[in-house]
Amino acid sequence: MNTPHPPSPGRLPRRAFLAKTAAATATTLTVLESAAVFGAEANAVLELGLIGCGGRGRWIAELFAQTGLYRWVACADYFQDRVDAVGEKYGIAADRRYTGLAGYRRLLEGKLDAVVIETPPYFHPEESWAAVEAGKHVFVAKPIAVDVPGCETIAEAGRQATAKKLVFLVDFQTRAHELYREALRRVRRGDLGKLVLGEAHYPWAGGGRGTPPATAEGRLRSWYYVVELSGDFIVEQAIHALDVATWILDADPVRAVGMGGRKLRPAGSIWDHFAVNYWFANDVPLSFTCIQTIPEMRDEITARIYGSEGYIYTDYFGQVWIRGNEPFPGGSVGNLYTTGAQTNIREFHQFITTGRYDNPTVAPSVRSNLTAILGREAAYRGGEVTWAGLLKEAKRLEPDLREAKS
Ligand SMILES: NC(=O)c1ccc[n+]([C@@H]2O[C@H](COP(=O)([O-])OP(=O)(O)OC[C@H]3O[C@@H](n4cnc5c(N)ncnc54)[C@H](O)[C@@H]3O)[C@@H](O)[C@H]2O)c1
Repeated sequence: MNTPHPPSPGRLPRRAFLAKTAAATATTLTVLESAAVFGAEANAVLELGLIGCGGRGRWIAELFAQTGLYRWVACADYFQDRVDAVGEKYGIAADRRYTGLAGYRRLLEGKLDAVVIETPPYFHPEESWAAVEAGKHVFVAKPIAVDVPGCETIAEAGRQATAKKLVFLVDFQTRAHELYREALRRVRRGDLGKLVLGEAHYPWAGGGRGTPPATAEGRLRSWYYVVELSGDFIVEQAIHALDVATWILDADPVRAVGMGGRKLRPAGSIWDHFAVNYWFANDVPLSFTCIQTIPEMRDEITARIYGSEGYIYTDYFGQVWIRGNEPFPGGSVGNLYTTGAQTNIREFHQFITTGRYDNPTVAPSVRSNLTAILGREAAYRGGEVTWAGLLKEAKRLEPDLREAKS
C-alpha cells in the first residue's frame, strides 16, 4: 500500500514541489502580488476554473453560478466526458476544457481569477500548490490531503497565499454555519469551563461496498476505494466529525490508539470502521468511531464535548446547542450540506473583493486532517501512534497511476 512509485507523467513528487517552491518563492512573490489584487468591487464577477468535474464539482459549479458573482471560463478533469458536461452547461470554450493528469496545469496557464478544486483528495496538495504559484485564489474541497507531506504542502500553500494576497478557502460546511460559529464563540469565552472529555461519531449508510479497480483509469473513477487516493474512510468522510471536535478542543492530539477493520470489503480496499481513542493536552480524551455502509443507518456527524460547567452537542444533520451553567439553546442547522457550501462560496467572493487574505480555514483544516491521519495510522497498526512520531515519520501515500495519461 505504501510502496512509493515513480511520479506519474505530468506530476511532481510533493517533496520536489516543496524544494522547488522554497527556491521559487522569493522570485514569484513580487511578480504575483499585483496580479492577485482584485480590487474592492463587491459585485465584481470573478472568472473561475473548475478542477474536477465529477459529482461534487458539477453540484458546486451550479451553486457558484447561481450567485451571479462568478463566471466559469475553464475546466479540467481526467476524463473528456466530464469536462464536456460542465463545458456545455456553462458555455466554456472547447479549448479551455483540459483533460489528463496535467490538465490542471494547462488550465492554470490561462486567464482566470480563482480555481475550485473538486478532485480526489490525493491531488489537492499539488493542485492547490500550483494554483497559488500561478497567482490564483483557491477554493478546495475537504479533505485537503491523504498524508502528512500533503498536509504540510497545504499548510505552506496557505501561508504563501497570504503572502501573495490570495484567498485560500477550505470548504467545511460546519465552519460556515452561524449556529456552529456562535456555539464556538461561547466555548472560546469559557462557557464549558475546564474541558474534561469528548466524543465524536460518524455512522453513515453510504460509501458503497466497491473494491479497488485494477486499472489506473478505473482507480481515478472509483478513487474512494483506493486508500492512496482517498486517504481511507476516516480521512475522506469521517473528517467532518473530527474537524468539529478539534475545532472545539482547539488543540492537536498528543497521541492516539486505534483499531478497526475491513469486514465488508476485500483486502486492499478501504476500511469499514475505525474506533480511535485520542488524548489531548491535560489528559482530555476524545473517543471517536466511524462506520459506513450499514443499511438503514441514520447518518450522524456528531461531536459532544464535556466541560466542568456544561457540554456542547453538534450534529451536521441535526442540532447545535450547549447545556450547562451558560446554556445556548442553539437550534436546527437545517440543510447544512447546501447552505454551508453557499456561505463558503459567498465568503470566498467577499474575501477576494475586500482583500481578506488571512485564510483562517487553512490551519484548522490541516489540524483536523492530521488528526484523521493519526487515527488511521493508529488503527492500521493496532496500537499507539504519537502526533510527534506521525509528523516525524511523514509517511507518504502514492497511488499507482503509471498507466494514466498526462
Ligand atoms: N460535504 C462535502 O464537503 C463534500 C461532499 C462531496 C464530496 N466532497 C469532496 O469533493 C471531492 C470530489 O468528490 P466527488 O464526490 O465529486 O468525486 P467524483 O469522483 O464524483 O469526482 C471527482 C472527479 O475528479 C476527476 N479526477 C480524478 N483525478 C483527477 C485528476 N488528477 N485531475 C483532474 N480530475 C481528476 C474524476 O474524473 C472525477 O470526475 C473530494 O475531495 C470529496 O471529499 C466534499
